[in-house]
Amino acid sequence: MLILGIDTSCDDTGAAVVRDGHEVLSNVIASQYKAHDRFGGVVPVIAAREHTAKISFILESALEEAGISFTDLDAVAVSHHQGLLLALVVGVSAAKSIALACDIPLIGIHHLEGHIYSNLMGRSKVLKFPFLCLTVAGGHTLLLKVVSHGTYELLGHTRDDAAGEVFDKVARHLGLGHPGGAAIEKLAEKGDPEAYNFPRPLINRTDGEFSFSGLKTAVVAAIDRNPNLNKADLCASFQQAVVDLLVSKTIRMAGEHQLQQITLAGGVALNSPLRTALKHAADDHGYQIFTPCDDLCMDNGAMVAGAAYFLYKERGPNPIGIDTRANAPLGSKGIRYRHDSKYR
Ligand code: KG4
Ligand code: ZN
Repeated sequence: MLILGIDTSCDDTGAAVVRDGHEVLSNVIASQYKAHDRFGGVVPVIAAREHTAKISFILESALEEAGISFTDLDAVAVSHHQGLLLALVVGVSAAKSIALACDIPLIGIHHLEGHIYSNLMGRSKVLKFPFLCLTVAGGHTLLLKVVSHGTYELLGHTRDDAAGEVFDKVARHLGLGHPGGAAIEKLAEKGDPEAYNFPRPLINRTDGEFSFSGLKTAVVAAIDRNPNLNKADLCASFQQAVVDLLVSKTIRMAGEHQLQQITLAGGVALNSPLRTALKHAADDHGYQIFTPCDDLCMDNGAMVAGAAYFLYKERGPNPIGIDTRANAPLGSKGIRYRHDSKYR
């Protein structure tokens, strides 16, 4: 089954063609970083304008790279829930037009399901339900038990900022541009992770709750106190605090809910120290760790097409009039979770 997947939920215009939920034939992404950079964050109306300007070209490129035409498609899938409303609408309108013009099913995907399913692509025989998923991105930090296709239980989420958002805010304060996760990781390579003893909020609580705002405030205060500080040491110490928080809660929830397989998803999943620390901790407990390939971590259309393949079998197609929602509950149990304010 050939599915065209579209994601315009935030500041990446993504389109991809995926065969049978695992074979990625193309995965084209146009990032808008430059358009938002001078504003220090994502500006919704600019995001929508950029998606509108690029969507046709990105769709055509995805088909061309895959070596197919619109008439070869079996379905079109789109992120219609969770993201910037004005941005989502661009992808949803394109998907509806394609579904109507080609007379193929339209499959609406919750953006977070795309991230979750990025782990199942090519691994559906190895990963067994139920498994744990730590989704860490610019807008979300949440721990989910993936019970079955389309059914999730919330084991924990952030009370305030998302982990990626804090990476971005610290990077902005250091003048490293937006988004800043990768820049912080690079600077941290040369720094001492023990140079600063930053707080690890809620780390000793036995539940899966996260909090990052106190850490962010402490890091920003350290920068403001000393303009000549060693940026590499600061980045390494800050990154270590985030990694400690994410790893400790994930391992604790895996133990409490007896989940042997742990998956990592979202843009922050690209962070190597996080991957390494999680792997070490999991090895100590006899758990397995899965991370998506790099191209599937940040927002992209392939994860949407991948999720659609599995979820179409469960839920069937959506009506052509599907809604578009900035903040929508997740999965068959309608889970509600915290997400970053930039999505409102
Ligand atoms: O999944 P994504 O593209 O967008 C959302 O759904 O929010 O994730 C983007 C986030 C940004 O906050 C970015 O700074 C972060 O992922 N990120 C990283 C790294 N690469 C991207 N954070 C830490 N380390 C990285 N190497
Ligand atoms: Zn995302």
